[in-house]
Amino acid sequence: MDGVTFRRHRRLRTTPTMRAIVRETYVLKEDLIYPLFVLEGENIKNSVSSMPGVYQWSLDLVTEEVRDAVSKGIKTIILFGIPDHKDSVGSCAYDAKGIVQRAIQKIKADFPDLTVIADTCLCQFTDHGHCGVIKDGNILNDESLELLVKTAVSQAEAGADIIAPSNMMDGFVAAIRQGLDVAGFHHVPVMSYAVKYASAFYGPFRDAAHSSPASGDRKTYQMDPANRREAFREAQSDVDEGADFLIVKPALAYLDIVRDIKERQQVPVVAYNVSGEYAMIKAAAQNGWIDEKAVVMEKMTSMKRAGADLILTYFAKDVANWLDERE
Ligand code: PBG
Repeated sequence: MDGVTFRRHRRLRTTPTMRAIVRETYVLKEDLIYPLFVLEGENIKNSVSSMPGVYQWSLDLVTEEVRDAVSKGIKTIILFGIPDHKDSVGSCAYDAKGIVQRAIQKIKADFPDLTVIADTCLCQFTDHGHCGVIKDGNILNDESLELLVKTAVSQAEAGADIIAPSNMMDGFVAAIRQGLDVAGFHHVPVMSYAVKYASAFYGPFRDAAHSSPASGDRKTYQMDPANRREAFREAQSDVDEGADFLIVKPALAYLDIVRDIKERQQVPVVAYNVSGEYAMIKAAAQNGWIDEKAVVMEKMTSMKRAGADLILTYFAKDVANWLDERE
């Protein structure tokens, strides 16, 4: 190729050590948030059929699962509660003796150094399965805020380290921030599900958490997947209202949005690698169609590369194991 000049990019790819010194992105155990489903009863470890490897735990058994996660280096968990009683106003969500409140107390007593995040929503607790109160078929915004504030405060009273409201009512960060402050929880951060799309990828979660809407869908409060600039407005208002972290959800089909929010905001960004994203990999892996470990680690790296500071993923324990193998 006489006279042809070109760049030799392959020089930096020649050996594992050469590749290691030019690697730009790392996944760390500190990046991982491990979700757990807790339910009433004793001696229960229910597998979730659409999420192989994910279980619903009764409180007597969840401790062992948390111990296992902690022993692998997981620093942060998020709790989703499945109550045994649902009503139109989601009473069990803000009951001081509710499933999430008791789970927080128990886990914090056993693992004081673990960061415990409480998901703050009503959909698992309402008989209609929506994230707010309903009147004449409409999901009422401001009336729902009061219940969300009660839920957040009761979770903080139980000992939650971070409150993560996922309901997508307008003003939920402002209301919850004020509610926490008035109750003396200035020090408890809010991790807002600021940019949450009305996604078909949540299907398996709704099996796991028994939270499908009985009628209708969530499109009047969750965002249209087609919209990007609307995500900037959501993120900006949540930061203005006092959000300490911003969640983008789902993650993998929305890495452009993760990057956008990272570039536009100064608070830590969390990518929520949702249930449907988990289920797809599991299904393909179980069929022998993909290499699960390689695919999962590539996807974790993609979320970090897109700008995520933290990754909320059902794969958290596996990732922690695979990171150990790599060392
Ligand atoms: C509750 C909530 C949902 C998820 C997290 N919190 C379900 C929903 O909005 O329908 C989905 C998480 C996942 O799919 O992994 N509002």
